Amino acid sequence: MADKICEDFEKNQKKSIQEVGLSPKTFMMVKDLWKGFDNTRTRIEILKGVNFEIESGQTLAIVGASGIGKSTFLHILGTLDRPDQGNLFFNNEDVFSFNNGKLALFRNRFIGFVFQFHHLLPEFSALENVMMPCLIQGQKNDKAAKAAEQILGRVGMENRLYHRVPDLSGGEQQRVALARALVLNPMVLLADEPTGNLDKKNSEQVHELIISLNQELGMTLVVVTHNMELAALMSRRITILDGQLVEME
Ligand SMILES: Nc1ncnc2c1ncn2[C@@H]1O[C@H](COP(=O)(O)OP(=O)(O)OP(=O)(O)O)[C@@H](O)[C@H]1O
Ligand SMILES: [Mg+2]
Repeated sequence: MADKICEDFEKNQKKSIQEVGLSPKTFMMVKDLWKGFDNTRTRIEILKGVNFEIESGQTLAIVGASGIGKSTFLHILGTLDRPDQGNLFFNNEDVFSFNNGKLALFRNRFIGFVFQFHHLLPEFSALENVMMPCLIQGQKNDKAAKAAEQILGRVGMENRLYHRVPDLSGGEQQRVALARALVLNPMVLLADEPTGNLDKKNSEQVHELIISLNQELGMTLVVVTHNMELAALMSRRITILDGQLVEME
């Protein structure tokens, strides 16, 4: 199975590189990134000139108290939100300079994102939710269903394929969201509290899965987590202090 996934991964990478025009050794770099929010009365600055680099295949945990900007930073890394100022480079390509079409293609091909509050489509089944990125990429239904079924099996959801989202438990929804992020074998997995709703057994299963994806496929991992066991499994740990990223240890 690992061989099959590796093969798919390489194929997917080659295709991605041709379509988006990037080199295979993804290397993310953030330069002087600023992000704040306007509330009704005040403006709060969350990221104040952040600089950051991660090499292809590295694993990183972002930890720290509620409200310090972990999700804000992860959303920008995932190109889901734009900074007020600063750049995000993937292998020297300034991705926020892409037009919207190219940015969407880039995101679909290269990034797997697990949202803190999963954002699954409630009117669809687990299987259909996970098929969605494949269909967006233009895959045929059969192929998309097969890929979705395989990855749902890896997160222990093989017996819930046809459940609609509201009929799944919180932890099951979270595992479906992880499967959706992984179905296209992204180069980078950005996960916001992927084990936040899971019990110990399921958390450990998810930890094993994402570590094996890193080891087998060289998938780069950036994981926001309060789970210290998961943070300890990553090669780097950072937090955000007064709008700056701080490397721990
Ligand atoms: N769209 C927004 N408008 C206004 N304020 C926002 C917005 N998004 C985030 N914030 C504020 O920015 C700060 C950082 O939010 P963020 O979601 O990044 O925190 P976090 O570190 O992920 O916290 P948690 O651990 O609770 O998920 C918070 O104080 C939040 O209230
Ligand atoms: Mg958050």
